Amino acid sequence: MTLVSRVKMAVDGPECSSLIQGYWRMGEWDMDPQSRLTFLKQHVELGITTVDHAHVYGSAQAPCETLFGEALKLDPAMRDNIEIISKCGIEVMHSDAPSKYVNHYNSSQSSIISSVDTSLQRLGVEQLDILLIHRPDMLMAADDVAQAVELLKHQGKIKHLGVSNFTPSQFALLQSRWDSPLVTNQVEINPVNLAVTEDGTLDQLQQLAIRPMAWSCLAGGSLFDTSSTQMQRLQTTLHEIKLEIGAQSIDQVVFAWILKLPSRPLPIIGSGNIERVRSAVAATTLTLTNQQWYRIWVASKGHGVA
Ligand SMILES: NC(=O)c1ccc[n+]([C@@H]2O[C@H](COP(=O)([O-])OP(=O)(O)OC[C@H]3O[C@@H](n4cnc5c(N)ncnc54)[C@H](OP(=O)(O)O)[C@@H]3O)[C@@H](O)[C@H]2O)c1
Repeated sequence: MTLVSRVKMAVDGPECSSLIQGYWRMGEWDMDPQSRLTFLKQHVELGITTVDHAHVYGSAQAPCETLFGEALKLDPAMRDNIEIISKCGIEVMHSDAPSKYVNHYNSSQSSIISSVDTSLQRLGVEQLDILLIHRPDMLMAADDVAQAVELLKHQGKIKHLGVSNFTPSQFALLQSRWDSPLVTNQVEINPVNLAVTEDGTLDQLQQLAIRPMAWSCLAGGSLFDTSSTQMQRLQTTLHEIKLEIGAQSIDQVVFAWILKLPSRPLPIIGSGNIERVRSAVAATTLTLTNQQWYRIWVASKGHGVA
């Protein structure tokens, strides 16, 4: 059985599993607490010990962190076998919000601190292994973020800080005010949306030897929808390459495509189906040639390189 390897996120960063289990869609999995615990144990057995959460995942009635916390409560010792990531910084409208209230990003000290406190309480744990600032806030005052995070670290509520969906300049700005290294930038990486391969995001992480985390590796499932010509081109090429490399599915080809990136992303698995999780683990043994990697790029773009 292929087991997922352990990696360091950055030179002085934390150790994580090289595949991460995402919990954004947990509310759709229709699992009771015992089944959630079973799923957690199954992916930990595969070596996937790092789990990705966010304050905003799930519904107001059933936040994903609470669903996960209910499962963890059935076997509290599991806490010692996993690394928990959660995110702060998005404020969503509640049903009792004033009529002109809009969802917004909030990286103020009070928002960061209360978000972490809520996450810890929902998860039923005392510390997050990694806190990520979920989205770049146009009103982010980097000194405020650094102060809030310093306090949380001092209180033992978080171990490490990273960011998500930050541009290279936003990353550099926050790093300039925070003494410890930011440990990751969690960004969308898949063959459908090539933005971070072109805008310097992955170059910066490669330069700094910081591992990106890749979200929506399968484009949120839209990769399997053939209603657009881009998806049709991609599916045709992915199927061809699947046969060439002996993969079991086009999902595996996509994971191999992401793993070939020299910034060495850590893919976050979105599925709640353990067989699909196993398939992603098996994909870590597959390799693509540069030709195959670029054939997928060309299929996505609909044109060749200049
Ligand atoms: N930082 C951010 O801003 C951000 C944004 C989005 C996500 N994330 C993180 O990244 C994780 C992964 O994102 P994601 O859920 O969008 O990942 P994804 O792997 O791109 O999409 C998962 C979806 O694809 C479906 N799927 C997988 N394989 C399939 C197949 N062979 N055929 C049809 N459908 C298939 C899954 O359904 P099944 O469950 O039925 O397999 C699930 O609904 C999230 O859980 C979250 O932790 C972070």
